[in-house]
Amino acid sequence: MSEGVILGELAEIPPGESKGYRPENEAQDHLFVVRLTASKVVAYRNSCPHMGYESAPMAWRRDRYLDGSKQYIKCGSHGALFTLNSGECIQGPCEGQFLTPEKVTVDSNGELIWWPQS
Ligand code: FES
Repeated sequence: MSEGVILGELAEIPPGESKGYRPENEAQDHLFVVRLTASKVVAYRNSCPHMGYESAPMAWRRDRYLDGSKQYIKCGSHGALFTLNSGECIQGPCEGQFLTPEKVTVDSNGELIWWPQS
């Protein structure tokens, strides 16, 4: 079983916003978290299925993973839109494909914990 990695505090992400993380000091975000409500988050790998999931970072600017309405995740490269809850592409060049989910939980101290899948 893998160990959890502290990403930061949930409070760093306003509700309805997103934030990218580089838990192993990568050159670009490895994953991003979207804060759906006061206590609920979803997380996905920062890799767009349009380019085969490899080397396809999605933010159009640092920590900007959402479209203007904040109802969808948007890939900054070619504009694909993904649902917040399932990560399914509902518009764009990879329609019907899914983002890769990452397990992130919120502990009792309000810290975001990432559980890497081996
Ligand atoms: S790389 Fe994401 S839509 Fe093309």
